[in-house]
Amino acid sequence: MEAFRILGGQRLDGEVRVDGAKNAALPAMAAALLGDEPLRLTGVPRVTDVTTLAAVLRHLHVAVRRENDILQLESDASRGEASQRFLAPQHLVARMRASFCVLGPLLALRGRAVVSLPGGCHLGDRPVDLHLRGLAALGADIRLERGHVVAESKRLRGAMLSMSGRHGPSVTGTANVLMAATLARGTTTIASAAREPEIVDLGRCLRKMGAKIEGLGTSTIEVHGVEQLGGATHQVMPDRIEAATLLAATAITRGQVTLRGAPVEALQSVLELLTDAGCQIDTTPDTIRLRSPERLQPICFTARPYPGVPTDVQPLLTALATLGGGTSTIEDQVFSARFRHLAELRRLGARIELEGPRAKVRGVEQLTGAHVCATDLRAGAALVLAGLAAQGETLVHDVAPIDRGHERLEAKLSRLGADIERVPSQRRPTLLMNRQRARERAAVAARSAPR
Ligand code: UD1
Repeated sequence: MEAFRILGGQRLDGEVRVDGAKNAALPAMAAALLGDEPLRLTGVPRVTDVTTLAAVLRHLHVAVRRENDILQLESDASRGEASQRFLAPQHLVARMRASFCVLGPLLALRGRAVVSLPGGCHLGDRPVDLHLRGLAALGADIRLERGHVVAESKRLRGAMLSMSGRHGPSVTGTANVLMAATLARGTTTIASAAREPEIVDLGRCLRKMGAKIEGLGTSTIEVHGVEQLGGATHQVMPDRIEAATLLAATAITRGQVTLRGAPVEALQSVLELLTDAGCQIDTTPDTIRLRSPERLQPICFTARPYPGVPTDVQPLLTALATLGGGTSTIEDQVFSARFRHLAELRRLGARIELEGPRAKVRGVEQLTGAHVCATDLRAGAALVLAGLAAQGETLVHDVAPIDRGHERLEAKLSRLGADIERVPSQRRPTLLMNRQRARERAAVAARSAPR
């Protein structure tokens, strides 16, 4: 277990390059299962979610080689045990929801997929009904067996299907069905498809492999199935959530930073909110310069599917709102229960109340350092941001969820002037006391046990 020790109060200043997008790299890696030649992905971030999916793919007989930021993937279904060619193991899939994206490609090319029901960040109920309904519409026979989805089909056939759920379209659901449809017989129309830039990026990668896809970036995607896909070289798009994290970190520390290689267009909704908060923002097609005001203004927003404010940015902007000069109102329509960071932000002195589906954040003059815990990836990053602004020392414990999506976040922030370092997690006093009591109880029990 590791922690980030942060001494707050340093303004961020300087220039930094944005990494490749985790959420674009992951489905593109799964797409390697579809091709009969190597897929070369460049700009792949060194985050633990990528390592986990690489392990899942190796298990499925995809050779995965990394050289710097390049990942070369080559699928060979003829190797190894037949029973292993279809099985994505539970101990790996449970770690990360995006690994469920191997379901569509496995089914499309190998005719059978056995994939454990996924895990991932704890953001409330996260069903996979849209993935399964979509693949069933393409002709797959799907059943649940001992916690695994078993999907089988001869060749999939094109169909009309919808990705629309109660909370909008599913992003990885759209990725799963899109990949499966590339090898189906005939045309597939995906209505209410996710419009997220990462889906557009995946579609571009699939096109380079030989897929025929129209309507990327709109809510109706049309896929004309082909007989086979080949290899390709594809540059993964820059990470809009990492970019938003660095911008919010700059804003909360009253700093000024330039992001290089930034996905400016994909960040429009976030840039508008940061402007509402009083930040001065200048852009070129691939750089963003942010200068923060002395006092942030309150912000009001609802996280929505693209092109709305991303739910993944919501915790970061909530951290920002804790220091706004007034009351901010925040809602999340994608994951309505995504407010686990509020309790930890309160430890740092934030004044936040949940009123039904809305968080009301009353800005304070100053946050104060404390021990907090990273409950999930973006909540953890939000706590880092708050710690950067807080007076005194903050320890963000158990930072593994942050490493799932950031390649050494602390190193990037340090280069911009933050006082942050990775340290072994010092257990919090309550945990130490519980352990001490448990040891004492065990000793008493051992003394009184029959010999
Ligand atoms: C992806 C992103 C994640 C982001 C989320 C929403 C990746 C690897 N992860 O997750 O970072 O927070 O999009 O932008 O790209 N839903 C259903 N049925 C389903 C699937 C989803 O009802 O079968 C619901 C979910 O509970 C949620 C909403 O749809 O309320 C959106 O979820 P979804 O887009 O599927 O999230 P992910 O693709 O898992």
